[in-house]
Amino acid sequence: MDNEYKASITGVGSFLPEKVLTNDDLSKMLDTTDEWITKRTGIKERRIVENGVAASDLAVEASLRALDDANVLPTEVDLIIASTITPDCLFPSTSCYIQEKLGARNAGAFDLLAACAGFVYALSVARSFVASGAMKTVLVVGTECMSKITDYTDRSTCILFGDGAGAVVVQQGNGRREIITTYLGSDGSQAELLMLPAGGSRLPASHETVDSRSHYIKLRGKEVFKQAIINMVDVITRAATENNMRVEDFDMIIPHQSNIRIIEAAMEKLKLPKEKAYINIDRYGNTSSASIPIAMDEIEKGGVLKPGSTAILVAFGGGLTWSSSIIKW
Ligand code: COA
Repeated sequence: MDNEYKASITGVGSFLPEKVLTNDDLSKMLDTTDEWITKRTGIKERRIVENGVAASDLAVEASLRALDDANVLPTEVDLIIASTITPDCLFPSTSCYIQEKLGARNAGAFDLLAACAGFVYALSVARSFVASGAMKTVLVVGTECMSKITDYTDRSTCILFGDGAGAVVVQQGNGRREIITTYLGSDGSQAELLMLPAGGSRLPASHETVDSRSHYIKLRGKEVFKQAIINMVDVITRAATENNMRVEDFDMIIPHQSNIRIIEAAMEKLKLPKEKAYINIDRYGNTSSASIPIAMDEIEKGGVLKPGSTAILVAFGGGLTWSSSIIKW
């Protein structure tokens, strides 16, 4: 793409609810163990919102931190894009609630749904608006209350998910954290591998949908596991090749945190040391589209990556969808 401007991430922020749900807590609720969950997923604990807290509440906290980090006022934001599969309600959009709570009165606002790959999708949209010169300041938020759509009687899914939010501010390049490329992919023929069946126009809410627990995540874990590895490897390799790089040129892989075994298998296929992948799944589980911006915030605040390093964000999720983005830190 011929950019008129370079687009950079000028601020990062995240927010995790305080309440911790450990593997031991789960083992008191259903037939599982800390050992099984740790070995099969790498997850030790996850954060869970209190009753009455919605995705926009987490998003606002993360956004305020990102705006502060970028030294940008809410009134200076031109557009808010919220990536979420756990919106406050079906409509209006969660980003409109965020807009109101932030007092971002000059901003347009819309939600984007690409499941766990959604944050990088939204980053790609933000980059295009900024690079074309159409907008100066875009706030991108990944925010999820996964606990609200998780079936805590289903041990094969409830161990995986957690709540949280992360946000970034995208503006014209300032020489730091430049978004070099973004790649997006999808395969709707495999939509049924990971979905929330009811509550939309196909299967509206009814007594039957509630009785059949159809308002919770349904996951075909083994198949998703395989597809995640294939597509994460592919989208990293493609990003490298199309930018005349080798995969070993990436200083860090910042993957969506879905399962430690998925990440380690992808690293092995890429012939990269697993230490190059940023991992925090042990503390937060899978927070869907919030996982990458939460990791970016930890990396930035912890000084984990030196300025000038090259990182690649890589995500995979329901849809199926996948995405990657090279960032010059
Ligand atoms: N505790 C104990 N045993 C469990 C369990 C739990 N929480 N969950 C499943 N089991 C059991 C199963 O019942 C099965 O028992 P069986 O052999 O007697 O039938 C056994 O463990 C193996 O189950 P299986 O589903 O084959 O395990 P797995 O190794 O595939 O791990 C997932 C299951 C869900 C952890 C794994 O498939 C996964 O992470 N998939 C990707 C999911 C994902 O990340 N989705 C989001 C993508 S963004």
